[in-house]
Amino acid sequence: MTRQYEKIRHQILEAVDKVISDGRVILGPTVEMFEKELAEYLNVKHAIGVANGSDALVISLHALGIEKGDKIITTPYTFFATASCITRNGGIPIFVDVDPDTYNIDLNQVEELLKKQDIKVIIPVHLFGRTVDFEKLDFLKQKFNVKILEDAAQSIGSEGKIDNIVKKSGTFGDIGIFSFFPTKNLGAYGDAGAIVTNDGQLAEKARMLRQHGSKKKYYHEMVGYNSRLDSIHAAILSIKLKYLEEWTTKRIEIAKYYQKLFEDKKLPIKYPKVENKDYRSHVYHQYVVEFENEQIRDRVKEHLTKNGIGTALYYPLPLHLQRCFAEFGYKEGDFPISERLSKTTLALPIFPELRNDEIETIVQKISEVL
Ligand SMILES: Cc1ncc(COP(=O)(O)O)c(C=O)c1O
Repeated sequence: MTRQYEKIRHQILEAVDKVISDGRVILGPTVEMFEKELAEYLNVKHAIGVANGSDALVISLHALGIEKGDKIITTPYTFFATASCITRNGGIPIFVDVDPDTYNIDLNQVEELLKKQDIKVIIPVHLFGRTVDFEKLDFLKQKFNVKILEDAAQSIGSEGKIDNIVKKSGTFGDIGIFSFFPTKNLGAYGDAGAIVTNDGQLAEKARMLRQHGSKKKYYHEMVGYNSRLDSIHAAILSIKLKYLEEWTTKRIEIAKYYQKLFEDKKLPIKYPKVENKDYRSHVYHQYVVEFENEQIRDRVKEHLTKNGIGTALYYPLPLHLQRCFAEFGYKEGDFPISERLSKTTLALPIFPELRNDEIETIVQKISEVL
C-alpha cells in the first residue's frame, strides 16, 4: 500500500483537500461521480456506495426480501461477512463445500441441494479474485428460480462468459457487492464498499436502506442502516479506479512469474495457474498456494516470516465450524475440502509493485524448506 501511495500521493492529497474544502463529506456529488464511474467500468446500470463490503452484503440480502427462516446457500471457505449477512437478516446459512481446484463453491453440489430444498438465494464468492463459473450458475438460476447475490469483494475486474458475452464479476447476478477495504485490488484508505445491480427496483431499495430507509430526509419508508460512503473515500477511489486495469495486469504478470519459477524449480506446490482465455478469469487479489500437509505449510510460513516475508492464512477456521454458527448443527468432517484448505494453504505476497527479484527471493526461500 505504501509503495502505491508514493506514486499517487500528490493526486490523493489534492482530492482530499478539495472534498474537505467543498464541505460535502458524506455522499453528495463526489460519491455520485464515483458511483457513475464504477458503473461504467463494470458495465452495470446502478452502483450504490456504502460504508463497507459487509454492509453491502447485509443491505443486498435485505433488498432481495429475505425473511426469517429463509435458506441461503454459500461456501464455508470465505471471509466471515459472506455468511453473517445471512444470519443478520434472519436467514439460515446452508453451506456447500468448495471445488478443490478453484476453491470456489462446488456448483454440482449446489445443484444436488437445490433439488431437495427450497433455497431463496445463492451467494457465490469469487474467491481470491477468481470468477465463479457463470454458465453453470445461470443454469441453476433458471432451473431453480433462485436469486444470485455475488460476493465480488475480492474480484473487482475479473470476468466470466455467458452466452459468449463477457461480463465482470458482480454484474452477472441479481445483485453484487464489492469491498474497498484498503488491501483490496481497489482499496480506499479506510472502509468502503458498493452494491451493483441492473435491477432498478433493487437499486432504489438499496439506496434507501443505506440511509435509514429514507428517500426524503426524516421520512422513513422502512427501517434501514446508517451505511453511507464517505466522500473522501469516493474521491480516492475515483483516482485509483483509473489505475485498476494497469494494476490488475501487473498482478497477472506476477502470478505468471511465480508460476514460471515454481515450474523451473519443480516445487511440490499447487498454485493458481494463469489461464489462457479470451477473458480475465482471475485477478489475483490473493495468491494462495497449497502444500501437501499442515506441517509443511507451517514450516514454510515460519521460514518466510523469519526472512521478513509476510504471508497470511485464508481462512484458518471454515465458517461452518465457527462458534457463532453452532446452532446450525454443522460439525468437523462436513466439508472436507474447505477443512483441508484451511490447514494447507498459504497466501504469498502479491501487489502490483512487487518486483521480480523479490518474487525470486520468496520462491528461493520456499524451496529451502521443501
Ligand atoms: C469475500 C469477502 N466478502 C466480504 C468482505 C467484507 O468486506 P469489508 O471488509 O469491506 O466489510 C470481504 C472483505 O474482506 C471479503 O473478502
